[in-house]
Amino acid sequence: MASMKIHAAVAVIFLVAAFLPCNCNPSTTTVDEPAKYTPKAPPPPPPTAYHAPPPVRPVVVVEGVIYCKSCKLRGYNRNMDASPLPNATASVVCYGNEASKYRVLNLTSTATDKNGYFMVMVYDVGMFDTRSCRVYLRSSPTPLCAAPVVPSNVNLGLTLVKEPGRAPLPKGARGAYHSKAALMYGPGAGGKCPPSY
Ligand SMILES: *[C@@H]1O[C@H](CO)[C@@H](O)[C@H](O)[C@H]1NC(C)=O
Ligand SMILES: *[C@@H]1O[C@H](CO)[C@@H](O)[C@H](O)[C@H]1NC(C)=O
Repeated sequence: MASMKIHAAVAVIFLVAAFLPCNCNPSTTTVDEPAKYTPKAPPPPPPTAYHAPPPVRPVVVVEGVIYCKSCKLRGYNRNMDASPLPNATASVVCYGNEASKYRVLNLTSTATDKNGYFMVMVYDVGMFDTRSCRVYLRSSPTPLCAAPVVPSNVNLGLTLVKEPGRAPLPKGARGAYHSKAALMYGPGAGGKCPPSY
């Protein structure tokens, strides 16, 4: 009986200690000091699911070729009277409308390969529209073939045409487009072509 009383008393003391704010040593409490705390390490990132596929970003693929007109370089095409121009670039420029606050998207293509082929990945798919996007000549690797021929003015762009059944396309691709004609530089007024290689 006595031991139960003691237990009850101990329990009450613990309860009081737990619920009363401790005012036990007010002399050590300074009121105006900012709270001190040790910053805790941020929680670890949630574990990524095993084999989770990477998120697929929507993209529009724009591709095309750049030729050097009337120069007989490697890959010369008699019908076109032009040769693929490696290391040239094009740009894809899309002019936004009121909804996009007239933002302009100006993307540089990959440098052309030995077949004159270039590509641009347009990830800002909301800006892509064949009515407002154009392909421009951007740079030539040689001053001997740097005069704009198609289009004949570097400030003019070619319109884009959708490729109906282009395969394979990267994941997330909304489609592939090419300029309605091959882009071409040509030799300037001097008429001298780059050396064939
Ligand atoms: C393209 O440019 C790179 C770097 O400027 C150069 O090393 C390469 O030889 C060029 N290729 C051609 C085909 O002109
Ligand atoms: C796109 O950017 C290039 C490089 O800054 C510039 O030369 C070209 O004029 C731009 N095109 C347009 C249409 O703004």
